[in-house]
Amino acid sequence: MSDAVPAARPRVLSGIAATGKLHIGNYIGALSVWAKEQDRYENFFFIADLHALTIPENVPPDYLREHVREIVALYLACGLDPDRSVLFLQSRVPAHPTLAWIFDCLTPVSWLERMTQYKAKSEQASPSAGLLTYPALQAADILLYQPKYVPVGDDQRQHVELSRDIAGRFNHLYGDLFVIPEPLIRQSGARIMGLDDPAIKMSKSLAEKRDGHAIALLDPPDTVRRTVMRAVTDSNPALRRDNLSPGVENLLVLYEILSGSTREQALHQFEGNGYGPLKTAVADLAVDTVAPIQSRYNDIRADDTYLDKVLAEGAEKAAAVADHTLHRVMQRVGLA
Ligand code: TRP
Repeated sequence: MSDAVPAARPRVLSGIAATGKLHIGNYIGALSVWAKEQDRYENFFFIADLHALTIPENVPPDYLREHVREIVALYLACGLDPDRSVLFLQSRVPAHPTLAWIFDCLTPVSWLERMTQYKAKSEQASPSAGLLTYPALQAADILLYQPKYVPVGDDQRQHVELSRDIAGRFNHLYGDLFVIPEPLIRQSGARIMGLDDPAIKMSKSLAEKRDGHAIALLDPPDTVRRTVMRAVTDSNPALRRDNLSPGVENLLVLYEILSGSTREQALHQFEGNGYGPLKTAVADLAVDTVAPIQSRYNDIRADDTYLDKVLAEGAEKAAAVADHTLHRVMQRVGLA
């Protein structure tokens, strides 16, 4: 982070909810990109542990405590650098739920009920109030830091748009205060699909629930291989460019991204063959991708003091920014 040249470095903020298992899709679409672009931006990355409680039956307390440390260690193992990025836990910065409450009070329920993620999740079980107000907390997560960009997957676009609406409503009611953030949605590698079901995006929660769905970043090599070799393809005898089913397309995309090849190079390599060689190549590349991450992860997990220090320093840096914004908000609404 550089205070010296703020204008040269737009601020970014993003987070991942502390539920499910981080997988290779998260690495390709989010973590590796965040890590690679750390010098282009002033970075805030956090773990949304308060959001993990919105479906409480999914997160026993001991699981949550452990899981949060696992995710921070994976952030670090994937290359996020605490000297260049502020890394923190949402629950350690109390300004988040405080601002979320203020946003709850100025957000029409109808805006929240419109969210497709809420509609999907509330179908499964009787929804908690927290599941409904989830995006107002997300708006607080974002707006406290006044970022220019919010790098997210396409599935979070609607939540970022709601954050913009909430910021606009606050600015309108109480006078301009919030920067209106923009979602930063990358085209390349944004969508890795489930290996057992290429019709749906690879998912953290299914990675936890279903064997064969995802390549989890902490899967042992034989599990990675088994998952790739079992990936859904189709019954065509050979790979043909004019006849790529979604499962084969997904394997090709994984091959291209992990090997740095173009589509043409990949087709040159695999066209005319059965799917075995493509799967073997993807399995090798996936193992080579997760192995160094796992080795760094194991080192980090062996040093609890280091992890505690990263989290304490991250919370302090984040709170300095968040508390400043919250104080201004409280003055505007008459709470300070
Ligand atoms: N909702 C995001 C997810 O499902 C996590 C999240 C919470 C987030 N607050 C955020 C992402 C703020 C970006 C910015 O993973």
